[in-house]
Amino acid sequence: MLRRLIALGLLIGLSPLALRADDPPWLVRSQAGMVASDSPEASRIGADVLAQGGNAFDAAIAVSFALAVSRPQSTGLGGGGFMLACLAKENRFMVLDFRETAPTGATRQRYAELIAAASDGPPPTIYGGNAVAVPGQLAGLVEIHRRFATRPLKELVQPAIKLAETGFTVDDHYLEACKEALADYEKWPKLKEDFAEVYKTLLGSGQPPKAGQKLARPGLARALRLVADQGPDAVYQGPIGQAMVKATQAARGLLTEKDLAGYRLREREPVRGSYSGYEVVTMPPPSSGGVCILETLNILHVMASDFQGGLRAVRDDLYPPMLVCALKHAFADRARWLGDPDATPVPVRRLISRDYARELADRFCPASNEEYGSTRMPEDRGTSHFCVADKDGNVVALTETINGVFGSLVVAEPYGIILNNEMDDFATDPGRPNLYGLVQGEANAVGPGKRPLSSMSPTMVVKDDRPVLALGASGGPRIITSVLQVMLNVIEFEMPLEQAMSQVRIHHQWLPNEVYFDREPPGELARGLQGAGHALAGQRKTGVVQAIQLLPDGTLVGASDPRKGGRPAAP
Ligand code: GLY
Repeated sequence: MLRRLIALGLLIGLSPLALRADDPPWLVRSQAGMVASDSPEASRIGADVLAQGGNAFDAAIAVSFALAVSRPQSTGLGGGGFMLACLAKENRFMVLDFRETAPTGATRQRYAELIAAASDGPPPTIYGGNAVAVPGQLAGLVEIHRRFATRPLKELVQPAIKLAETGFTVDDHYLEACKEALADYEKWPKLKEDFAEVYKTLLGSGQPPKAGQKLARPGLARALRLVADQGPDAVYQGPIGQAMVKATQAARGLLTEKDLAGYRLREREPVRGSYSGYEVVTMPPPSSGGVCILETLNILHVMASDFQGGLRAVRDDLYPPMLVCALKHAFADRARWLGDPDATPVPVRRLISRDYARELADRFCPASNEEYGSTRMPEDRGTSHFCVADKDGNVVALTETINGVFGSLVVAEPYGIILNNEMDDFATDPGRPNLYGLVQGEANAVGPGKRPLSSMSPTMVVKDDRPVLALGASGGPRIITSVLQVMLNVIEFEMPLEQAMSQVRIHHQWLPNEVYFDREPPGELARGLQGAGHALAGQRKTGVVQAIQLLPDGTLVGASDPRKGGRPAAP
C-alpha cells in the first residue's frame, strides 16, 4: 500500500522529500549533490568534496582513490575503468576509456600454451602474472583531473591517504570476498606461497578481521602519497610502476616498464538509443554493456508493440520470458561480434538498430541456442561502480575494476597494490568459459596492446537533453542485466528508485543456457519462465547497482544496492 502511495505521489508530482521518513538507509535525497558508491566511506569522502565546493569530477576522483583503499577486492590502482559523464556547461556527454590493455608480449599462442599446461592448477588467466593487463586506472583519474576538476590532485588524494592510514571498515561484503578467495587458497595451497601478501595482509592468513574492525593499508598510503607528489609518473614512469613490473614478472607474467610508459587512454563517443520517450546514453565497445542494453531494449520495444499498453500491460506474465529471449539474442551477439574496436571491426550500428531488433523479435525465442543473435553481419565480483551528481548539473557514472575478487593476487610491493586479472576477459581459449561463464569469440581474441571486452556499463537515461537517471553496476555480465532491469523498472514501469532496485533480478547470458536470479524467485515467475521453455539455474547470481535519479524539482535521489552494503551520501 505504502509503495503504491509513493508511486502515486511521484506521478502526481508530490515532492518526494515529503516521503523521506520511509526511505531505507541505502537511499538518500538531497538537492545539494549526491554520491552513490558501494562503500559508505568512499561515498562520504566524495560528499565532503562536494560540500567543500568541489564539482562532480573532483568528487569522483576522491571517491575512486577511496575505493582503492576500502574495496581492495574490487578495484584500485592496479585496474582500469570507464567514465560516462554529462558536462553541464557544454551540454554534452562523453566517455573516457581507461580500460587495461594486453602487454606487448601477450599472444594467442602464449595463452593457448599456458592454458594447456595449467591442467588442474590455478587458471593462468585468473591468478598470477599472466592474468595481469597494463593498468589504466591512474591514467584515467589524472585525465579526468586535467580536463574537468577544480581542486588540486594532492587535495583529492588526501582523504584516501588518511583512510589507508587509519584503516577502512571491514563489512559483510568484504568478508564474503575473503571467503571466496580463501576457498581458492584452500583448493590450491601453493597459492599461499606464491601470493602470500594478499593471504597474510587482507585475508588474515585464513582468519579475516571481523565486521566493524578497521584494516589499515600502510603500503597503499605510501603509494598514494607518491601519486599526490608525482602524479601519473609515479605509475607510468616511476617507482610504483617498477614495483608492478617486478611483481608481475616474479609471478611469470609479461608486464614491462615499456608497456606502462606506452599506456594510452581513449576518449570515445557514447552509444545512444531511445526507449519510451527517453534517450539512453551508454558505454560503447570495448564494453559490451551499452550495445547489449540497447539491443535488448530495442527487441523489447518491438515485442511490446504487439500489446496494447506495451510492456506495462504484460509486466507480470509475458515480460519475464520476453526479457530472457531478448537477453539471449543480445548475449549471443556479444559473444560473436564484440571486442576492442581499435583492433577489430565491431558492427555497433547494426546491432543497436531497430531494423535488426525487428528481425530478432520476429524469431522470438528459438528452441536452438544456435539461433540467437546473428552469425552473419553486414560490415560495419571484482568491479565497483559509483555515480556523482553536483548542484551544477555535472553527472559522472564511473565503473572501475580489477576483474576477479582480489584480481590476479599479484601485489606490487611495498605498495599493497593488487594487480588486475583482466586478461581473463579476453577469449584466451575460444569455447572455454571465462571466470563469469562467458563464452566469447574471435573478435575478443587476445593480442598485444588490445583491450579485453568488458561488461561495465555506465549509463544515463536522458529526457530533454538532461540526465534523469545515472546508473551502473558491478558483477561481470550481470552488470548488463542489472542496469537494464533497474532502468526499465524506473522508466517503463514507473517505480520509485527504491522499488526499482529491490525487485528480483533475472539474468541470462546465452551460455550457459540457464536463467539466473539474484534470490529465490516468486513461484509464479519461475513457473512462467519454465513454461516458456527456459531452464532455471539453482545458483543465485546478480550485479550490484549504484544509481542517482535526478527529479524535475532538482532533488537527487541516490541509491546504493543493498546487495553490497553501499550507502549514498550527500554534502
Ligand atoms: N572485468 C569485468 C568487466 O570488465 O566486465
